[in-house]
Amino acid sequence: MSKIVVNGGAKLKGELRVGGAKNAVLPILAGTLLSTGCVTLTDCPDILDAGNMMSILRTLGADTNKSFDVLDIRTKDASCFIMPSHLSKELRSSIFMLGPILSRFKRARCVYPGGCEIGNRPIDLHLSGLSMLNVKILEKHGSIICDGSDMRGNTIHLDYPSVGATENLMMAAVTAKGKTEVQNAAREPEIEDLQTFLNELGYSVHGAGTSTVIINGTDGISDKSVVHKIIPDRIVAGTFLTAAAITGGEINLKNCIPSHLSSIIAKLRETGCDIEVNDDSIRLSVNRELKEIRHLETLPHPGFPTDMQAPIFALCCVLNGTSIIVENVFENRFKHASELAKMGAEYTQKDRMAIIRGVKKLTGASLIAGDLRGGAALVLAGLVAEGETTIDNAELIDRGYERIDEQLRNIGANIRRID
Ligand code: EPZ
Repeated sequence: MSKIVVNGGAKLKGELRVGGAKNAVLPILAGTLLSTGCVTLTDCPDILDAGNMMSILRTLGADTNKSFDVLDIRTKDASCFIMPSHLSKELRSSIFMLGPILSRFKRARCVYPGGCEIGNRPIDLHLSGLSMLNVKILEKHGSIICDGSDMRGNTIHLDYPSVGATENLMMAAVTAKGKTEVQNAAREPEIEDLQTFLNELGYSVHGAGTSTVIINGTDGISDKSVVHKIIPDRIVAGTFLTAAAITGGEINLKNCIPSHLSSIIAKLRETGCDIEVNDDSIRLSVNRELKEIRHLETLPHPGFPTDMQAPIFALCCVLNGTSIIVENVFENRFKHASELAKMGAEYTQKDRMAIIRGVKKLTGASLIAGDLRGGAALVLAGLVAEGETTIDNAELIDRGYERIDEQLRNIGANIRRID
């Protein structure tokens, strides 16, 4: 297990380019099964989850190649419809392989991906939605066996705007007979990127980014070869902005889509950060003492993203005043709080609400990352803490951030990795 070591105190100052979005490349990698042509994905993040998804594709029989930020996938010879259980458990988001596997092979088999560090992560909305498409599902001994030999379009209303369920159903419905309407669909930008990709393959998907996504089923699997650029990662962008804010520094972020970060920008401005938004870049600087965030609730997009809750929590620990954060999306996403308390953070947590009293100083400590975004929050706290902070389980951070230590060092952080 590798460690990240941070010596706090430096004000970050510099420019970073934001890479492709983890939560866009993962469903799109699953979607490469929906073409027998060559798919080239550019601006892909070099992260562990993308590597795991490529491994899953290879076990299904696909050919894959990675060259820097370019992934080439050819699934022409893919023939296996059984998801490898060890990889499914490793990668929670593997569950949205179900949809493309069903579209491609008309049957699928996988194991329950299981819960993970941030909550139980049920898949009932995925399975009930697939059933509405006339997929016959048998669940036994932890396995899910699907018969999609006669998939038919339908109107599906999601009880909750689940990102993964929306993506799974979009990819299952592209070859179902007739029209499918997914109502109360998730509206995240990554779903729009998936829609763009599916339409580049020749499918007919519309409405992504709104609460109603329409998929007109087509006969057979596409044979198109396409090149698709992955959209920038709004959560990585938000994390880097917060890193500059917590150190009282300044940062210029290139390759952003500012409209994807509106809620994050609003909350950082509320603390007193100066933020300049341009077409594809965002500049943040701190020119005054930052004050509390009076009330923040995580919500489905376009509300404040749950994936930014932990980084913002770290910032709230050193704001002048008391902040309130409510985590509405996942039931166990405050694991970083107890680690931050080891650095002197002061908070009270009751169920999904955390009340955070800003302190003048955090001090370095030996910490353990409990999940991807919580680990990033610990790095941010280390940047401002007095003394040395070590963060164990750094691999969890590498699941969603490309070489976070190297990138932060490039803008002035005193940070290194011990493998
Ligand atoms: C996606 O996870 C993201 N992962 C998550 O990012 C992100 O936090 C989440 O969406 C919310 O934005 C990827 O895109 C790979 P959901 P997903 O289905 O699809 C409940 C990160 O750090 N639910 O929208 O799993 C669920 O329990 C990761 O980058 C059901 O009840 O999220 C949760 O409370 C973490 N039944 C809520 O919905 C279901 O069948 C939101 O989950 C599915 C979900």
